[in-house]
Amino acid sequence: EPVPCSEAQITQQENGLPDLNGCELRIAVENAYQPFNYIDPETGEAVGYDYDIFNEICSRINCTPNFIETSWEAMVAIMGGEGSFDTFDVGADGITITEERAQHVDFSIPYITSQQVLLVRIDEDRFTEPEEFAADPSLIIGTQLGTTNYEAAKNLVGEDRIRAYDQFGTAVQALINGDVDAVMIDNVAGLGYVGVNADKLKITGKAVESEELGFIFSKGSPLVEPINQALESMKEDGTLDTLFQKWFQT
Ligand code: ARG
Repeated sequence: EPVPCSEAQITQQENGLPDLNGCELRIAVENAYQPFNYIDPETGEAVGYDYDIFNEICSRINCTPNFIETSWEAMVAIMGGEGSFDTFDVGADGITITEERAQHVDFSIPYITSQQVLLVRIDEDRFTEPEEFAADPSLIIGTQLGTTNYEAAKNLVGEDRIRAYDQFGTAVQALINGDVDAVMIDNVAGLGYVGVNADKLKITGKAVESEELGFIFSKGSPLVEPINQALESMKEDGTLDTLFQKWFQT
């Protein structure tokens, strides 16, 4: 039985990277945010960019990854100062680094940059740019509750024109069904939905917001530094870029 990483002794490897001595690293994932972490509909397996990254991090700093499915709602509670890190050590969910959230959690260094964009039906021709969308009060936007995308949608059109869903998959389904006219989403996730619904969806207009995404830890966690060092080494030798290409270049 590996010891939990929160209690692990951290030493140093000969290559200069930290050594977590085989501890169990519990990683919270929603498993509903493709291509970051989701269930592959064909194989039923949980996969994605976050899975590959943490398997690689653990092979570099000697930990045993254990992915724990956790709702986005639970992540939002923690980032709002309400939840606890009892059931996991790190959250990996395409999470935007914000000052507000950083009051309650520690963030890793950024592992990807994302632009918020409007995802629309493929035949959409009533608007192209976000301002045109905003100018027509009959248009409704869908997004996921508790996200920075919700905040961006609120800034664009106000709360009365937002339908918020527990999961992005539901918001995208509402778009396909015609219940909403656009979905405010991180382009890296939006491209994933376009990839599997190329005949139904497209991204329109310019980006509304540009953001950096990171992993979350409890305040003062001793794991932030070792994981940052592993990420740095993956940036330097091109591994992070290779994984990015694998999951986001469709
Ligand atoms: N980047 C956005 C945020 O941090 C959306 C993240 C949604 N992640 C998810 N696993 N559903 O608010």
